[in-house]
Amino acid sequence: MIDELRDLGYELNDYSLSDSDFRDLDFDGYSTEDSGMILDVPYVPSDEKIVHSLLDLAEVTNEDTLYDLGCGDGRILVAAALERNAHGVGIDIDPMRINEAIEYAGHTGVEHLVHFAEADLMEVDISAATVVTLYLLDIVNIKLRPRLLDELQPGTRVVSHAFNMGDWKPDQQQRCGSINLYKWIIPAKVAGNWEWQTSKGETYRVELKQKYQEVTGKAWLNGEVAQLKSALLSGDLLELIVQTESARPVSFLMRCELKQLVAAEGNLQATPALKVPKR
Ligand SMILES: C[S@@+](CC[C@H](N)C(=O)[O-])C[C@H]1O[C@@H](n2cnc3c(N)ncnc32)[C@H](O)[C@@H]1O
Repeated sequence: MIDELRDLGYELNDYSLSDSDFRDLDFDGYSTEDSGMILDVPYVPSDEKIVHSLLDLAEVTNEDTLYDLGCGDGRILVAAALERNAHGVGIDIDPMRINEAIEYAGHTGVEHLVHFAEADLMEVDISAATVVTLYLLDIVNIKLRPRLLDELQPGTRVVSHAFNMGDWKPDQQQRCGSINLYKWIIPAKVAGNWEWQTSKGETYRVELKQKYQEVTGKAWLNGEVAQLKSALLSGDLLELIVQTESARPVSFLMRCELKQLVAAEGNLQATPALKVPKR
């Protein structure tokens, strides 16, 4: 099966792909050659068990809007609408798939919750998504990665059937039979130098570096070097634990807003953390 994909010109990374990932592939079915349409990924529908596991992994509720990029016959979005009352937007470059998806949504009576559009997934506006579902290839995920990180709101969940995102490690990973499912939470952008005051009149400053959701850095208390014991970022929530030699560790839970980090719990942090120049 993998060889057949290669013959069709798809670039594959052997380490991430197994025959079982593509066991439903129908090479004798619909041909896209005549239309001149170029698929980045062939059509292989997710099976029912995987659809449900993806929705569980993404913790989809009726408050979500799912975008399935390369939606095939729309089964992920129809399941999310039927079972969780979630809204969905399905994008596929293949008009035949879009027709199937519209028909399927009509049959199941969820057409008021889902919208399907024929478009290139690399070009559509995805900023309204709260959940993105992907069953693409890892090279396509990696090409999409900067747009996911820049255009989606912090906290948006991205789940992928079988394929990863290169050096962006998943926040969660689980097996469904022999297949890996991955989940990432879009991290807020927190790199830089931040300073805030506490209700005790202390001034904290941190210098944060960021690679995806991983944050490292340095800390100062009242101008004296302290230790940044941990920095955990999940979506728009940042927990910093700072320790000085003479005192116990102090923890700050902050919510990342446009240009400030505001206290998300407790009353120790008296002012929002604001960006300051590097010293
Ligand atoms: C592996 S199937 C996944 C279908 C569906 N998401 C599911 O899990 O059942 C990938 C889908 O991506 C579509 N596709 C491939 N390249 C695309 C592109 N550049 N833009 C939009 N859709 C694309 C294909 O037509 C196919 O339906």
